[in-house]
Amino acid sequence: MNSMLRLEQVSVRYGPVRAVTDLDLRAGEGEVIALLGPNGAGKSSTIGAINGLVPASGRISLGGRDISSLAVEARIAGGIAVAPEGRRIFVNLTVAENLRLGAALRRDPAGIRADTERYLALFPVLGERSNQPAGTLSGGEQQMLAIARAMMSRPKVLLLDEPSLGLAPMIVTRIFDFIGQLKSEGLTVILVEQNAAQAMRVADQVCVLVSGRISYRGTPADLAGTDVMKLYLGGAA
Ligand SMILES: Nc1ncnc2c1ncn2[C@@H]1O[C@H](COP(=O)(O)OP(=O)(O)OP(=O)(O)O)[C@@H](O)[C@H]1O
Ligand SMILES: [Mg+2]
Repeated sequence: MNSMLRLEQVSVRYGPVRAVTDLDLRAGEGEVIALLGPNGAGKSSTIGAINGLVPASGRISLGGRDISSLAVEARIAGGIAVAPEGRRIFVNLTVAENLRLGAALRRDPAGIRADTERYLALFPVLGERSNQPAGTLSGGEQQMLAIARAMMSRPKVLLLDEPSLGLAPMIVTRIFDFIGQLKSEGLTVILVEQNAAQAMRVADQVCVLVSGRISYRGTPADLAGTDVMKLYLGGAA
């Protein structure tokens, strides 16, 4: 299968700390890869390595093109978007302004308007409050905004770092339904999650990262009921 995103021997170090070591990962078009693992396993460092915020060694390619030496902006323009851990929306800007920032590198005003309308309609609560400061949204609504903002750059690959963190189960289900919808439209997703059960609902492949290395790789069906679940993921399958 052709890989939309491919990581070969990717490593991340912070001084003496080896956060990620020789990571190999492949994601095809329309595939969702769940990256699971305990705190400090190197999940966010992997996301940072892919979008260019965190210096890394090894090779990262997007649609067959080596992007390892590109700056963050060039990777966004190339088709990589991230909804980061902790959401990082701009609380003093309005919902609509946050969305526009996601499209900052685009030069097609009509397309930007159409996409803005699309996401405001998809998440009616964002539509109703498009002119209010994003800081007035609830945690779940802010997460929806963070994902919609990332989608505004029209990515080929979406990196999601713990989208369910701190959210009520009903909201989590809605967010994962949305991820499933994006996948069906052909988007490739790298999904970092602590909520293994929800992640496995949408994932094609599951990678369990422990101390910066993949300790398990398989389909959600392979993983269910194995010791991996008990050892690293709180046992819930
Ligand atoms: N900027 C940094 N400087 C030094 N060490 C760091 C830095 N960022 C992360 N680390 C270390 O790298 C390791 C991996 O961290 P990372 O944030 O990638 O883990 P994670 O899997 O995302 O964890 P969590 O589930 O808690 O978000 C940890 O030991 C962490 O302390
Ligand atoms: Mg993290």
